[in-house]
Amino acid sequence: MSKPKRDLSKYFLPDMNKARKRIEQSKIITDQFEVPTNILNYGKGKKFHIRTYGCQSNVRDSEIMIAMLKMIGYEWIDDPFQADLIILNTCAVRENAEKKVFGEIGWLKQIKTTKNPNLIFGIAGCMTQEEKIVQEMINRYDHIDFIIGTHNVHRLLKILEQTILEKNTIVEVWSKEGDVIENLPDFRSSSIKAFINVMYGCDKFCTYCIVPYTRGKIRSRSKEHIIKEIQELIKQGYKEVTLLGQNVNSYGIDFVNENYKFSNLLEDVAKTGIKRIRFATSNPWNFDDSIIDIISKYDNIMPYIHLPVQSGDNEILKKMNRQMDINDYIDKINKIRKAIPNCAISTDLIVGFPNESKEQFENTLKLYNEVQYDNAYTFVYSPREGTYAATLKDEIKIEEKNQRLNELNELVKKYAKKNNEKFLNQIVEVLVEGPSKKDSSILSGYSPQWKVVNFKGDDSINVGDLVNIKITKASRFSLFGEIVK
Ligand code: SAH
Ligand code: SF4
Ligand code: F3S
Repeated sequence: MSKPKRDLSKYFLPDMNKARKRIEQSKIITDQFEVPTNILNYGKGKKFHIRTYGCQSNVRDSEIMIAMLKMIGYEWIDDPFQADLIILNTCAVRENAEKKVFGEIGWLKQIKTTKNPNLIFGIAGCMTQEEKIVQEMINRYDHIDFIIGTHNVHRLLKILEQTILEKNTIVEVWSKEGDVIENLPDFRSSSIKAFINVMYGCDKFCTYCIVPYTRGKIRSRSKEHIIKEIQELIKQGYKEVTLLGQNVNSYGIDFVNENYKFSNLLEDVAKTGIKRIRFATSNPWNFDDSIIDIISKYDNIMPYIHLPVQSGDNEILKKMNRQMDINDYIDKINKIRKAIPNCAISTDLIVGFPNESKEQFENTLKLYNEVQYDNAYTFVYSPREGTYAATLKDEIKIEEKNQRLNELNELVKKYAKKNNEKFLNQIVEVLVEGPSKKDSSILSGYSPQWKVVNFKGDDSINVGDLVNIKITKASRFSLFGEIVK
């Protein structure tokens, strides 16, 4: 596509100052999505490819984009070189996530120059909500055809239509979150487990985090829409749902006329009878005791809680605006362990927050040794422009931070193995997902505690079955066992 010179004033560019504000109440809209008449069958005979980075919110957004593209006839293709449309669904949470995307944008240019000049190339996801990033994309690359933000994913087909008709780069990023759009088409990448958005956005403003800017303020979906979606999935044979949100524990705090919290939702979802329920992710701040009670009461809510703590040091937690001290956190962990004795617990940790001292880092190690997590996602702090923490002067060298990360990861490995070994000789129920990645003669699935379990299958076992497996081997990453007849 040859394009006229870019007129920046035509673009809907993001503005992080606007994104910071929390003013209007969002509405639930059920008639916003429609297929533009100009491109009803535009994708017939054409192929698309989407690359997804970041968290499950992006995975779910990609599924929705896939559904829209299929509606106008496009089909998925694994090989980007064969595609007529490529979308990168990006993540902004750390600098290296962004570097990876810039690398991909550069590399994918050759498809347009050498293989398919008519390729339409779009960027979606959280990076598009940052003004500097969008400007860099527009200034550095001329092969990007459209940029769509996180708040207007439902407008993908409109933006595609505009791209096709105007033959110009289209940038449409809304800085402020829109409404909750309920009539979106649906595609699911699995036939047995599904992600269910329960809330969007985040109002916590942890000082290091860009998510409240890229995903906007908290907007909870209505209980009725969520339950109806799950009931539909049960009819279709789904076995597991994961309730999704940046901080599911604050579900419902934005309801004006209703007192309905995450624990209420969890209980109503449990009552639908779906076999397995998971949820992600949980800032411990709003993780109240009623949630623990409900998990312990219902067998179909899985005994696995991801409870990101970020640091084991009270001073650092305060600087991060995590609103919780370590004593309170350990209190919660103890309550969980008492009420749900077989519960697996994992966490997220950031090392090297600006000026984190050796002693403060050691408090993180101390906490880790105390809680002995099943697993942890560990990160070196990455300054995100526009956040408060990025304005702090930082004296700690990156080499020191990397060394701390390695030290922490040794503990993660140690306790992952130790916790997995607890399952030796036990019988665990596994939801069968298919052949294992490494060996197709071996079947693989997850236990209630979110442990990968591999086992030798037989012809009687199908994807989606729940089978009992006796664990015979345990490594840091997975369990291995035999079917119990
Ligand atoms: N809402 C979740 C976290 C979502 S972001 C919660 O509050 O628990 C996922 C993880 O990325 C965070 O838990 C944090 O550990 C990490 N993270 C976020 N911003 C980061 C940054 N600027 N540098 C390094 N890690 C970061
Ligand atoms: Fe980011 Fe999670 Fe904090 Fe929200 S609660 S600001 S998503 S780390
Ligand atoms: Fe990344 Fe956005 Fe998720 S920044 S972690 S894709 S909410």
